[in-house]
Amino acid sequence: MNDRFKNIVDLGKYPIQDLNSPKIKEIINKCKTDLDQFSCSTIPNFILPKSLEIMNAELEKQIDEVYMSKQSINAYLYSKDDPSLPKDHPKRIFMNRDNGYLNSDLFARDSEMKFLYEQEELLKFVSACLGISPIYRWADPLACHAYNVMKPEGILPWHFDSCEFTLSLMIQKPEKGGIFEYCPNIREPGNENFEEVKKVIDGDRTRVRQLKLEPGDLQIFKGRFTLHRVTKVEGNRSRYLCIPAYVLDPWRVNTPEHSKAIYGKVLPIHIERNLTRSDGLTD
Ligand SMILES: [Fe+2]
Repeated sequence: MNDRFKNIVDLGKYPIQDLNSPKIKEIINKCKTDLDQFSCSTIPNFILPKSLEIMNAELEKQIDEVYMSKQSINAYLYSKDDPSLPKDHPKRIFMNRDNGYLNSDLFARDSEMKFLYEQEELLKFVSACLGISPIYRWADPLACHAYNVMKPEGILPWHFDSCEFTLSLMIQKPEKGGIFEYCPNIREPGNENFEEVKKVIDGDRTRVRQLKLEPGDLQIFKGRFTLHRVTKVEGNRSRYLCIPAYVLDPWRVNTPEHSKAIYGKVLPIHIERNLTRSDGLTD
């Protein structure tokens, strides 16, 4: 067991280095039940306070390198309209977005977050909680473990992620707002369920759940099948999150269009690996 790892994760509470310990087995069972039912599970105070400070500091040190984007976007993360579809199709609904990322390729070599993401223990724990194996770290060099920044007035509208599984690590909470809302299992491979998606975008609250995350909490989330958003950040303090991601396909990366819109640039890998997805879902 690496010494640095012990100073990041609260292994006393969550001994994820030993997946056979009764303590961690119980936690995995709870997470699995939550994930199966709600696509989402929270592990409180997963990150130790000192490590949280380090993450906060490493992000603030590079805050000028955060790519902020205000491009309006649909729930499938596209900004281009498709006039061949009916006017009220959810793909033709574009929503305000004001949100930024510190891309993963800009992280310092000795970054705390990058280190955590690269640990096998974390990957195996997440895989056990999901009840899915194997899962892989995301091959996308910009998006794989990006810091997410939402400044005051920032907003992230309803959308699906292009990666299957996302961790959210709350680093800094805003004074008000910036609430994560989600609609579990609203689509599945081969079934986009456009009608229900449209209802939610139009304001129907029947399926909507809210999640309260405190700094240090870890959330595990099935973002590709769960429509989700973050409400407007209010007050003067920005909302900082880190979102390490895991995928079923170790080869795939974001589409060039998606990468440009969200992360501000396209790398050769995005063009080389731009193929139709096997799950038949749009992103
Ligand atoms: Fe997302």
